[in-house]
Amino acid sequence: MLFEPIELGKLELSNRFVRSATHEWMAEPDGSPTERLGELYSELARNRVGLIITGYAYVNPQGKSDRLQQGIYDDRFIASYKELVFGVHRYKSKIVMQISHGGRQTMLTAQNPMLFAPSAVTVRTTGITPEEMTEDEVFATIDDFANAARRAKESGFDGVQLHCAHGFLLSSFISPYTNRRTDRWGGSTEKRVQIIVDIINRIREITDDRDFPIMVKMNATDGFPKDKKNVLDAPECVDIAKILAASGVCAIEVSGGIVEASDELFRTKIKTHEEEAYYRDYSKMIKEAVDIPVILVGGLRSKVVMDKMLSEKYADMISLCRPLICEPELVENIYSGKTDIAKCVSCNLCSDESGIKCNYDFED
Ligand SMILES: Cc1cc2nc3c(=O)[nH]c(=O)nc-3n(C[C@H](O)[C@H](O)[C@H](O)COP(=O)(O)O)c2cc1C
Repeated sequence: MLFEPIELGKLELSNRFVRSATHEWMAEPDGSPTERLGELYSELARNRVGLIITGYAYVNPQGKSDRLQQGIYDDRFIASYKELVFGVHRYKSKIVMQISHGGRQTMLTAQNPMLFAPSAVTVRTTGITPEEMTEDEVFATIDDFANAARRAKESGFDGVQLHCAHGFLLSSFISPYTNRRTDRWGGSTEKRVQIIVDIINRIREITDDRDFPIMVKMNATDGFPKDKKNVLDAPECVDIAKILAASGVCAIEVSGGIVEASDELFRTKIKTHEEEAYYRDYSKMIKEAVDIPVILVGGLRSKVVMDKMLSEKYADMISLCRPLICEPELVENIYSGKTDIAKCVSCNLCSDESGIKCNYDFED
């Protein structure tokens, strides 16, 4: 099944492999994409990755989360993104831009001295308390996401993925731990998801396109210990997925973890089949409840587990981040039978500010 085609709404993909959004540290300081970034995506496309999701692109300068992150906050970027997309479309791959705002996990700088979030909940890892966004700021941010999607569409991207995972702004609206609002964007599950629904509707309006593929990467869990109350976890994540599916997203990628929950989102030292696919139970629950494709990410390493995830209906697609940093040719090598397991040892040394690369010493 791994090499069978699939449709995400109007988006036709040649196989079930996704390159999960991966911040590359390869953009210019102002967020412009570089040739190096384009070469990386072309390499993945040449090596049979069905769907490439870009590293998170910030929708406004206040939402920039990291150095050398790509941006999509201005029309001036469209021309260079067009070239990057063209490089991918020479092959059979499709490319979707992940659009994001850092929220309480924004990078603080002299130009950007304040964090904005749904509520003023102190970030425990830094001790910094964000500002609670005003209603006007929420409306402006919805517009910024919609304009970012319009720019992505005008650049030729095959769709956008809203980054609603890992504690960044939209993820922090979903979670009752970080969202304590009492207005239209806080309280019940529906109200905590409302900002995402508003963004989807605004994208439809601004692009005047009912079919432009919009997908989400969502947290199914904040990643706190199971006995902690008032946090995001199952079964609430299933209700959230149902609301998102009803609002017209064409696929849901299931992930988890926020900054306070340590390495939950990219677990280290995955050695056994049992340790692989660590969000599989969440994705299965969500897949059973929605009628759109579900993408599973997190610790997928061996072909046997990938096959099992599809055949036993845990998910419809397999998303890989660290294994494709280590081996951009992994999907091609699985296809040709050259390998059936990723070399990646999940050490996280690939988070390299000089540009992602595998820094593990296999000789050691
Ligand atoms: C270097 C690095 C950068 C990442 N950047 C992003 C990102 O921009 N957006 C995102 O949603 N997840 C990001 N992630 C998380 C991955 O997409 C993925 O969810 C996580 O690494 C688990 O998958 P894996 O076991 O295949 O690596 C990043 C992970 C790494 C290691």
